[in-house]
Amino acid sequence: MRLVRLIANLGYASQKEVRGMIRDGRLTSADGAILTAESRPDHTQIRLDGEGLDPAPGMVLMLHKPFGYTCSTSDPGRVIYELLPERFGRRNPVLAPVGRLDRDSTGLLLMTDDGPLLHRITAPRSHVPKTYEATLARPLTGDEAEIFASGTLMLRSETTPLAPAVLVATEPCKARITIVEGRYHQIKRMFAAVGNHVEQLHRCTVGGLGLGDLAPGKWRLLTPADLAGLFEESERA
Ligand code: URA
Repeated sequence: MRLVRLIANLGYASQKEVRGMIRDGRLTSADGAILTAESRPDHTQIRLDGEGLDPAPGMVLMLHKPFGYTCSTSDPGRVIYELLPERFGRRNPVLAPVGRLDRDSTGLLLMTDDGPLLHRITAPRSHVPKTYEATLARPLTGDEAEIFASGTLMLRSETTPLAPAVLVATEPCKARITIVEGRYHQIKRMFAAVGNHVEQLHRCTVGGLGLGDLAPGKWRLLTPADLAGLFEESERA
């Protein structure tokens, strides 16, 4: 890809502005040679003001989504993109959340610009397990684990039952739930179906990935080892 489009597609600036950056000698190779619009160096060898570029398309990151942020730019209020470098919101291909967390949910959110990978993680057949910690309005009755594991629970206005899910009670009003689907407001609707109400919801893991010590509002790029772990876990599940 031509240098101007490559830099513009990473969201650093418009194509016109990138041409100006090239004229000003701000784009160089790793050894300091000034690049021209015709240069075609490897992505990893390009420097902008001496700094390496953001990852090429195929980027995957994890964000510790805090409470109060929405995953959709069409919803009002604060959006997850405000937690990332501004240019990430201008990338082409678009950087999108892998499934969604509700505005009032917290925890692990993956984001990628790799459409096939996004599909591989979210497709119902992929069965990538996602684990949540739910804080409930009322104590658990003891029946929930069996109902969720049954594979017959039907959510209101749906036509197919939920795949079996695993619930482990951790406190009278707290549970850890693992699901392999990603239906709309799934966890909240599952607890509504058994007469309870989710007051707080936190996603701890997606496949084999956890947040580790990533603080709320912070993000990090995934490594190839992280990605391998993500799918290994779903193949074991
Ligand atoms: N299920 C929900 O109800 N909400 C979320 O944010 C994620 C799963």
